[in-house]
Amino acid sequence: MGARTGLWFIGARGSVATTATVGALAVTAGLAQRVGCVADHPEVAVARPPGIEDLLIGGHDVVADSLPKRAEALAGGGVFGIDLVRALHDALSQADGRIRHGVTVGEGNQRDAIEQVSRDLAGFRAAHALDQVVVVDVSTTEPPIELTPALSDVDELDRALAAGESPLPLSSLYAYAALRSGCPFVAFTPSPGPRLPALAQLAERMGLPWAGSDGKTGETLIKSALAPMFATRALRVRSWSSHNLLGGGDGRALADPVTAASKTQSKGLGLESILGHPVDGPLHIDYVPDLGEWKTAWDMVSFEGLLGTRMSMQFTWQGCDSALAAPLVLDLARLAARAQQAGEAGPLGALGFFFKDPAGGGGHDLGGQWRALTDWCARIGGDR
Ligand SMILES: NC(=O)c1ccc[n+]([C@@H]2O[C@H](COP(=O)([O-])OP(=O)(O)OC[C@H]3O[C@@H](n4cnc5c(N)ncnc54)[C@H](O)[C@@H]3O)[C@@H](O)[C@H]2O)c1
Repeated sequence: MGARTGLWFIGARGSVATTATVGALAVTAGLAQRVGCVADHPEVAVARPPGIEDLLIGGHDVVADSLPKRAEALAGGGVFGIDLVRALHDALSQADGRIRHGVTVGEGNQRDAIEQVSRDLAGFRAAHALDQVVVVDVSTTEPPIELTPALSDVDELDRALAAGESPLPLSSLYAYAALRSGCPFVAFTPSPGPRLPALAQLAERMGLPWAGSDGKTGETLIKSALAPMFATRALRVRSWSSHNLLGGGDGRALADPVTAASKTQSKGLGLESILGHPVDGPLHIDYVPDLGEWKTAWDMVSFEGLLGTRMSMQFTWQGCDSALAAPLVLDLARLAARAQQAGEAGPLGALGFFFKDPAGGGGHDLGGQWRALTDWCARIGGDR
C-alpha cells in the first residue's frame, strides 16, 4: 500500500527524528527488523494502526545539515551502520527535501509564524495526497513557563494573537498550528506544547486527539517497572537517588539548568504516585559531550523491610537514547493516526505507557499502563 499517513517532525534533523526516519526507511526497504516497535505486539496491532510502510515523513528544523549528513554523523557515533546510510542515501535525500525551515522566537509576530507552519502542513498534505498528517514534536526541550490568561483560555489566546501579541512558547505555537490544521499532535518532549489549558481546549474544540508528554525511554521506564515491585511487596522505599550522564544535542540543551527544570520535573513525577508517599532523593542530569548518543543512568534505592532492616539496590543503565526513542516515536504517530480515524478527541490517556508525564489521566505504573493501552487498542480495533 502507498504512503497515506504523513508524519511531520518538529526537529526533523535531530537525533531522534533522524534515527526514526532511518528506521522507518530501513524497515520499509526490508533492511532492518522491527525491534522495539510496540505497535507490532498483537495486543496493540489489534487497533489496526497504519503500518510503518504507510508513513511518509517530513518536518521542520532550523539547522542546515541535511538528513543524510545527520545520519552519517549518527552512524559515526555507532547508533547504526554506515552501510545502512549508504543504502538509504536517496530515500534520505528525498525525505530531506520534505523538511521546511522552522520558526524561531523573535522572528516576526506569532500570527505569521502560525500561518507559515500551517501552510507547510497543508502543502505537505496536498503534495502527497495524504489522508492525514500527525505532528510529532522531537525538537529541543524548552524551559517550563508561567501560565498567563492567554495560555489558560483559547478565546483569550485567539484575541491575543489577533492583536499581534506573541504569547506562546514555540512548542505550543507548533501545537496550535497543527491543531488548527486538523492534525493530531504528539509531544515527545517535556516542553509545554499542547499541555497548556488553552491548547487542550483547542484540541477538544477541533475534535482532535493529542498525546504526551516526554517519551519514557530509559531510567524513568525502569523506575516505572521497578517501583511497583517495592509497592506491591510492601517494602518501604526510603530514598531513590538518580544520576544521569548524557551527551548529544539533548544533553547540550539540558546542560542549562533552566531548560533542565522541565526534564527533572517530568522525570520526578512517577515515584511518589506509584509508591504512595514522597521519597527523598536527588535527580541529577549532567552533560558529558564524550558520551555522544549514549546515556548512563546510575540509581541507588535504599529501602527497608520488617523491623526496619535496611537494604539497598543499585542499577546502571547504558542506553542509546535515539535507538530507544525512534521506534516509540513511530508507534505514537501510528496510534495517534488511528485514534483520529476512530474519532477520538482530547488527551489520549491510554498512550500513557509511552510517557514520563502522561496526559489524560492514568497512573505511572508500567503494568497498569500496558493494560490501559491494550484495552484501548482492543476497543479501537472493534470500532469499524
Ligand atoms: N532520546 C530520548 O530517549 C528522548 C526521550 C524523551 C524525550 N526526548 C526529547 O526529544 C527531543 C529531541 O531529542 P534529540 O536527542 O533528538 O535532540 P537533538 O538536539 O538532537 O534534536 C533537536 C532538534 O530540534 C531542532 N530544533 C530546535 N529548535 C527548533 C525550532 N524552533 N523549530 C524546529 N526545530 C527546532 C534542532 O535543530 C535539532 O535538530 C528533546 O526535547 C528530548 O528531551 C528524547
